[in-house]
Amino acid sequence: MRLLVTGGAGFIGSHFVRRAVRAGHDVVVLDKLTYAGNLGNLAGVPQDFRHGDIADPGIVEAAARGCDAVVNFAAETHVDRSIIHGADFLRTNVNGVHVLLEEARRSELRLVHVSTDEVYGDLPPGRSSREGDALQPSSPYSAAKAAGDLLVLAYVRTYAVDAMITRGSNTYGPNQYPEKLLPLFVTNALDGEPLPLYGDGKQVRDWLHVDDHCSAIELVLQDGTKGEVYNVGGGNEVENVEITRRVLELTGTDESLIRPVADRPGHDRRYSLDTTKLESIGWTRSRPLDEGLAETVEWYRANRHWWEAIKQSPEYRAYYERQYASRLET
Ligand code: NAD
Ligand code: DAU
Repeated sequence: MRLLVTGGAGFIGSHFVRRAVRAGHDVVVLDKLTYAGNLGNLAGVPQDFRHGDIADPGIVEAAARGCDAVVNFAAETHVDRSIIHGADFLRTNVNGVHVLLEEARRSELRLVHVSTDEVYGDLPPGRSSREGDALQPSSPYSAAKAAGDLLVLAYVRTYAVDAMITRGSNTYGPNQYPEKLLPLFVTNALDGEPLPLYGDGKQVRDWLHVDDHCSAIELVLQDGTKGEVYNVGGGNEVENVEITRRVLELTGTDESLIRPVADRPGHDRRYSLDTTKLESIGWTRSRPLDEGLAETVEWYRANRHWWEAIKQSPEYRAYYERQYASRLET
């Protein structure tokens, strides 16, 4: 297939592009190269790169020419940034998805839209979200992602667009921009800097290795059914304080680095996904958490140049100051 991969210079998108090229697909990448996009993530990968915004219909039309399918990773993805300023989240995660759907409709493209478990909102212990559950997003990020998901389902019903949605859980692995918990804590620990743990640290996230997330998306692209939603969970529900301890162990640092700080407003307590549906079409995970985490920490240890360049950039420093300075002072 000739695939258009939007957001292919980001974390999960770049892993997917490598995988798709290995599988023999022809890949066009369309990416706006926001602060989170990084062409270095695609170094040495043969693909046709187009710089541009998924919310621009002309750019999307040109990039999609000759393609059979679109896999959409492009999004504003960080919850904390959506709490500071939500406008870009609406433009990309809602308007951008609408533009992709119009192109899929016009050019009869298959579309896999990559979404998140956060659209279900948080869950009490003992429950897991199923694909038909109500959407109850808590943050501007997850509300915008939920709006994108609803547009996809509306286009399937109204225009019979051949689209599917995946909803993944917290994904980790190499090349993740160091703002999310794991890459931030690993790189801070390697530098002997404090690890700002929000609230009581007992929130639960379900950790999914990026390879397992990408294998699920590839499977849905090949064998998914039009109009269906597929949960992609890691099967590793861990409290934040516990994953933080594992980071300390793997980086050879100690608990004195943990700094409890003011909580995230509207902070979801727990996510959990029922993945029976995806398993019923043949998906299995291949990356156990202990092994994946150890390997990820090793990647950050060995690739300082990759994350130091980001952490020293004015954009990152301004964000870090805004998000953490007052939290770390008190
Ligand atoms: P990321 O922030 O690392 O990368 C996002 C990419 O999209 C960047 O390359 C960026 O430049 C690009 N982009 C942003 N706005 C764009 C626009 N308007 N036009 C074109 N490109 C644009 O994100 P990620 O963590 O790789 O997430 C990819 C997708 O997976 C997102 O849709 C996200 O909602 C979803 N997701 C992420 C996780 C996770 O834990 N990271 C879990 C579940 C689902
Ligand atoms: O669940 C899937 C989602 O996972 C994706 O859709 C999002 O794109 C991705 O950012 C991620 O969202 P989270 O908000 O769960 O990820 P984050 O790494 O920001 O936070 C994980 C947990 O760690 C959460 O409970 C908040 C907490 N946390 C996070 C940061 C950045 C801290 O305690 N301190 C921090 O500094």
